[in-house]
Amino acid sequence: MSMGMGGAGRGGFASSFRKDASVVDHRLKPGTTRRVAGYAKPFLAQIVAFLALTVLSSLLVVATPLLLQRIIDDGVANADTRLVIVLAGLVAVVALVEAILGLVERWFSARIGEGLIYDLRTDVFDHVQQQSIAFFTRTQTGSLVTRLNTDVIGAQQAFTSTLASLVSNVVTLVAVLATMLALSWQITVVALLVVPLILLPARRVGRRLAGYRRQAMARNAELGNRMTERFNVAGAMLVKLFGAPESEHAEFAERAQAVRDIGVKQAMSSRLFFTALGAMASLATALVYGVGGVLTIREAITVGTLVAFAALLGRLYGPLTALSNVQVDVMSAMVSFERVFEVLDLQPSVVDAPGARDLPDGPLSVAMEGVTFTHPSGSEVSLLSLESPSADVAGESAFETEDRTPVLHGVSFEARPGQMLALVGPSGAGKTTVTALLTRLYDPDSGSVLLGGVDARTVTSRSLRAAIGVVTQDSHLFHDTIRANLRYAREGATEEQMWDALESAQIAGLVRRLPDGLDTVVGDRGHRLSGGEKQRIAIARVLLRSPRIVVLDEATAHLDSESEAAVQRALDQAMAGRTSVVIAHRLSTVRAADVIVVLEAGRVVETGTHTELLASGGLYSELYATQFAQAPHTA
Ligand SMILES: Nc1ncnc2c1ncn2[C@@H]1O[C@H](COP(=O)(O)OP(=O)(O)OP(=O)(O)O)[C@@H](O)[C@H]1O
Ligand SMILES: [Mg+2]
Repeated sequence: MSMGMGGAGRGGFASSFRKDASVVDHRLKPGTTRRVAGYAKPFLAQIVAFLALTVLSSLLVVATPLLLQRIIDDGVANADTRLVIVLAGLVAVVALVEAILGLVERWFSARIGEGLIYDLRTDVFDHVQQQSIAFFTRTQTGSLVTRLNTDVIGAQQAFTSTLASLVSNVVTLVAVLATMLALSWQITVVALLVVPLILLPARRVGRRLAGYRRQAMARNAELGNRMTERFNVAGAMLVKLFGAPESEHAEFAERAQAVRDIGVKQAMSSRLFFTALGAMASLATALVYGVGGVLTIREAITVGTLVAFAALLGRLYGPLTALSNVQVDVMSAMVSFERVFEVLDLQPSVVDAPGARDLPDGPLSVAMEGVTFTHPSGSEVSLLSLESPSADVAGESAFETEDRTPVLHGVSFEARPGQMLALVGPSGAGKTTVTALLTRLYDPDSGSVLLGGVDARTVTSRSLRAAIGVVTQDSHLFHDTIRANLRYAREGATEEQMWDALESAQIAGLVRRLPDGLDTVVGDRGHRLSGGEKQRIAIARVLLRSPRIVVLDEATAHLDSESEAAVQRALDQAMAGRTSVVIAHRLSTVRAADVIVVLEAGRVVETGTHTELLASGGLYSELYATQFAQAPHTA
C-alpha cells in the first residue's frame, strides 16, 4: 500500500497513545507555564532554529507530489524525456534535502532536550540533597529516582517531540490541504469524508490503549518491586532462612501472569487500532482513485493531478490523527514538569538561619535544655506521592494519621568541654534521637541544643558538621574503596594520615591483610566487613576528621572480648581530649564517663556518676545488674 499512515508529521499518532489520556483532565498549578518558560529561556535561540527547520521540512512534504504531477502532465504526456529526467532529479534532491533537514533538526532537538534534562536533573539533585534527614526517612528511593529519570525526560519532551509534532503537523496539514484544494476541490471533499472514520478509532481505541498501558505499568512496577526486594542481599537471606520456595514461586507467577495478560490485551488492541486505520486509509485510496479516475476520464483533472493526490493523501491522515490527541502530549509534558517542580518546591525543614554564625573556636561543651521533640509528620517534610507511588494513582490526598506523641520530653543535660557523657537506657528510650538532635539532623519542638553555649539553630551547618564527628549505630559505608570512604571524611587526606587513623581505630591490621588493602571495595556489595570491623572503619573515618565533639552510638551487637577490647581502644582514641557523648552498652564505657544520663521513655530519669547512680538504687542500678554486669570486663 502506498500510503504510510505516519508518513508525514513528527511524533506520529502512535506516540500520544502511549501516554495516559486522563492527564487531559488535570488542572495545572498556576504559574507552571511561566516556570516552564523559564527553563526554556536558555535554549531560546536553539528552539527558534529548530522550529524554523521543522516548518521548512513540513512545507517540503507537498513538493514531491507536485513534482510527480509535473512529471506526468508535462513530461510523460508531452514525451519530453529531458524534463522527466530533470524533474525526477528534483524529486531526488527534495528527498536529500529532507534527509539533511531531518538530521539537523535532530541535532537541535537532542541539544535542547538533553540540555534541559541536565538542568532539571542537577536542580532536583541539589535540592534533594538539601532536604533534612526526615525527608529521607519517609521517602521511597524508587519514587525519587523516577522523578529524576522518567519525569525529567517527560518534561523535556515538551520542547522537543511535543512542540515539534505540534508545529510540523499543523504546517503539514495546512500545506497538504491547501495543495489538495488547489488541485481539485471535488476529490478533496471525498478524501475528507473518510476523516471521521479515522478520528473515531483514533480517539476511542486510543483511550482504551492508554488505560491498558497504565495497568501494564502498574503491574510491571509490582513485578519489579518484588524482584528488587527478593534479590538484594538482605531479602535473599530472609527468603533462604525463612522462605517457602513454592509460595515465592506462586506469588511471583501471579504477578507475572498479570503482566502477561495485560500484554496480550495491549498487543491486540493496538493491532486492531492500526488495522482499522490501515483499512480506512485503503478505503480512502479506493475512493480517491475511483472518483479521481472518473474525473480524469471526463477530463476534469489530469492524470498527474490524480497521482499527486494519491501521494498527498498519505500525508493527510497522519497529522490529523496526531493533532486529535495533541492535548494528551502537551499535558503529559506539563504534568511531568509539575511533578519535578513539586520536588523543587519542597522546603527543607532544617536550614541555616539568616545571619547564622560559625561555632566559637576551642573546646566545646554539649548541652540540652528542656528539649521536647516529636518526629515530624509526613506532610511537614515530604510529598505523599514520594512516599507511596500508588497514592499518586489513587489520588489520595491525605497522609495517614500518625502517632504524634513526643519522643523526648524536657530533656536536659550538660557535658563540659573535654568531658565524656554516657547516655544509657532501655531500647526505644530515645538515645539515638538525642544524638540526631545534637547533630542538628532535626530541630527540637521546644527547648534548645547548645554547643559551646550557642544554640545549634543559630550556627552555620558547615561549622557544625566540622565540629562534630559521629559514629552511628549502624555505620554505613559507601560501595567504594576503603580509601574513598575515608577520604569522604577528609578530602585530600594523605596515605600516612589514613594509616594513622586506621591504626588508632585498631583496624589497620585487617586492612593490611586484605588483598587490595586500602583499595578494597566495601559496602553492601563489596567485601563484607563484620559489624565490629565496619564500626572501627567508621571510627577511623571520624578520627581523620578530628572533630571537637564526638558522638558515638555503640553497636549493640555482641562482640567477642578481643574485638570488644579493640573497639574500646579505638573509642578511647576517638574520645581522647574531646567532648564526647556516647550511647553506652558496655560497662567499660559507662564507668569511664564523667556524667551518666539515664533515659527512660524520652525522659531523663537520673543523672550522675557510676558510683552515685549505683548508690541511689534507681533505674541505673537495675540496668547495671541486668545489662552491663554481663558484658565482658575490659576496664
Ligand atoms: N522517624 C521516626 N518517626 C517516628 N518515630 C520514630 C522515628 N524514629 C524513631 N522513632 C521512635 O522514637 C523512639 C526512640 O527511638 P530511638 O532510636 O531514639 O531509641 P534508642 O534509645 O536509640 O533505642 P535502641 O537502644 O534500641 O537503639 C522509638 O519509640 C522509635 O520508635
Ligand atoms: Mg538507638
